Amino acid sequence: MTVGTDPPHASKIAVVGVGHVGATAAYALMLRALCHEIVLIDSDSALASAEAADLSDANALARPTRIRAGSFADAADAAIVVLTAGAASHGDQSRLSLATESAPIVTQCVRDLAAHGFGGILVVAANPVDLMTLLAIRHSKLERKRVVGTGTLLDTARIKQALGAQVAIAPSAIEAYVIGEHGDSEVPVFSTVRIGGQPIGRRVNRSQRNALAVGVRDAGYRIVEGKGFTSFGIATAIVRICEAILRDERSVLPVSSWVGKTYGPIDLCLSLPCVIGADGIKEILFPMLDDEEQVALVASAAQLADALAVLDR
Ligand code: LAC
Repeated sequence: MTVGTDPPHASKIAVVGVGHVGATAAYALMLRALCHEIVLIDSDSALASAEAADLSDANALARPTRIRAGSFADAADAAIVVLTAGAASHGDQSRLSLATESAPIVTQCVRDLAAHGFGGILVVAANPVDLMTLLAIRHSKLERKRVVGTGTLLDTARIKQALGAQVAIAPSAIEAYVIGEHGDSEVPVFSTVRIGGQPIGRRVNRSQRNALAVGVRDAGYRIVEGKGFTSFGIATAIVRICEAILRDERSVLPVSSWVGKTYGPIDLCLSLPCVIGADGIKEILFPMLDDEEQVALVASAAQLADALAVLDR
């Protein structure tokens, strides 16, 4: 399949977990006509059936996509499984604090997929996504490169949006990355931000960058405070990753992937810019960081390692 072609007609995407994020992701997948079939899987089968019916009604006004509720057996031949099932944060709960609640849910879902022989690409969105991506690698029997966490793709979108508003330039025209944990220790890499090849130092001073970084880090909390959850941002990040996979794009997206012991004494997943294609993570790109950013990335990895140690007790 040549790069950038239409997705293969026989592409099926299964969404495991049909809460706000899963249902919104399914809706966005349908509107983008990214695949020919979407299967909704949830422990609440009535919810899965109702969402499938609602989405099928909508699909009558969009490009034909078969949408139905199903089981893990139906995910076996999916090109992609999107895993959103897990704990949802409330109020100012940190994402890492959800680990003990999400871990058994994610582990069981991944084991069920493995038991049915799923061999496609697993896109993990359940929080804390870096730890859940690692658990998915541990229990899925998939090659590590075939497990992709949404990671800091959403944080990167947020910082592009915030920088764009600051300098009155389209976010899509700004090259920027947030790396590390999708959470409180994330690292905005201002030293590599470019607008038209220009560093942003000329447009955004130090105190403005610090304010932007705090705003991006806390964006999820603010949205949860107002509407009780986040959905559109993370769902669009999920769809962007699915699109890069199905079209074999070789796009560079900051997603959570296996980095082993690169940043500390235990195996971890965290976000770095990755080349994404039909078989998942094709390559991890290690950006040039200034000293402060390197220290912050190692600290982010340490936060994840500490949380993982608690989980593994
Ligand atoms: C957020 C969730 C997905 O940041 O963690 O919106």
